[in-house]
Amino acid sequence: MPTIKRIGVLTGGGDAPGLNAVIRAVTFAAIREHGWEVMGIEDGYLGLIENRLRPLRVKDVWGILSEGGTILGTSNKANPSNYATGTAPDGKPIFEDVTGRCYENARTNNLDAVVVIGGDGTMAASESMLKLGLPIVGVPKTIDNDIIGTELTFGFLSAVDVATEALDRVRTTAASHARIIAVEVMGRNAGWIALHAGIASSADAILIPEIPFDPAIIAKALQQRRAEGQRALIICVAEGARPVGGQVAISRMDPTSPDPIRLGGISRLVSEELERLTGIESRYVILGHIQRGGPPIATDRVLASRFGHHAIGVLAAGRKGRMVAFTDQGITDIDMMTAVGAQRTIPPDHSLLEVARSSGVSFGD
Ligand code: F6P
Repeated sequence: MPTIKRIGVLTGGGDAPGLNAVIRAVTFAAIREHGWEVMGIEDGYLGLIENRLRPLRVKDVWGILSEGGTILGTSNKANPSNYATGTAPDGKPIFEDVTGRCYENARTNNLDAVVVIGGDGTMAASESMLKLGLPIVGVPKTIDNDIIGTELTFGFLSAVDVATEALDRVRTTAASHARIIAVEVMGRNAGWIALHAGIASSADAILIPEIPFDPAIIAKALQQRRAEGQRALIICVAEGARPVGGQVAISRMDPTSPDPIRLGGISRLVSEELERLTGIESRYVILGHIQRGGPPIATDRVLASRFGHHAIGVLAAGRKGRMVAFTDQGITDIDMMTAVGAQRTIPPDHSLLEVARSSGVSFGD
């Protein structure tokens, strides 16, 4: 790998609390430990496609550790090898491979390497750039905590905290009115947020994408709780949960996105069906992007700082195509492509499922 003088950094995909903490750690380590220059690439890979970069100096990252969002902006539509460049006469988007343009812009800006902070989509998008010869190191990000190869992603625990607080709040109003309330949390393919927040808030049922649910089984569990005298009946449902033999609830389609399906609305279906089956008045709440916004909690600030620092260490050691990871070995790095093409879902024998079941949680199975 050529000697590094200048690197780029970008944040891609849906945002997560802690992105700024990674940008800050990357900038500090690059400048202070190695004397490199840092360029911030705006709006994820879109900034490389459109040649929008700006210098990041130490003073540019002061004070951002605790800030939610990303000072660089992000995009979940800019995959250089599959980018929507226009619209066909039938109204469908035209996708093109603009990897060459990105590579040229990286070269024109004298980038010797790039740190990409993103999810599996951002890691996948990096493959073609790596193949052209641009050294890249990935930092995994998603509030869903479902990236293969890392036990933990920053932003996840902040999202769990937000969801837990919402579930706690909902419980008191549900108790006042003796209602069922279904709280919908994020988690497209994996139910980690629902499982953690559900356990932390002693939800009566937790519905996750990994375990299709039968509403009749949940109804029976809730009726039993009610018979025992419990007034508040709380369901924590992941947006990607679905009934046995049924489909996920889709809120909208975004044809310009490489992953066009946007989920949302399963909590309404669950709430209505449970009201019908139990005769107990029900309500639902969709937490949505509240879980992604706002400041990262302290552990996420620390994890994000460690990830950013490690990414620079990997580049300084002359390695590329690696993704930073948190494993039982601590902070390490793995082949970046490990993360691509699948998600880290909750295994059926996971100990947290056992913990929940032993305290009486229904998974609707
Ligand atoms: O993958 C992270 C995530 O927050 C999912 O949990 C959610 O389904 C999706 O992003 C929402 O995407 P958008 O911000 O495009 O609505």
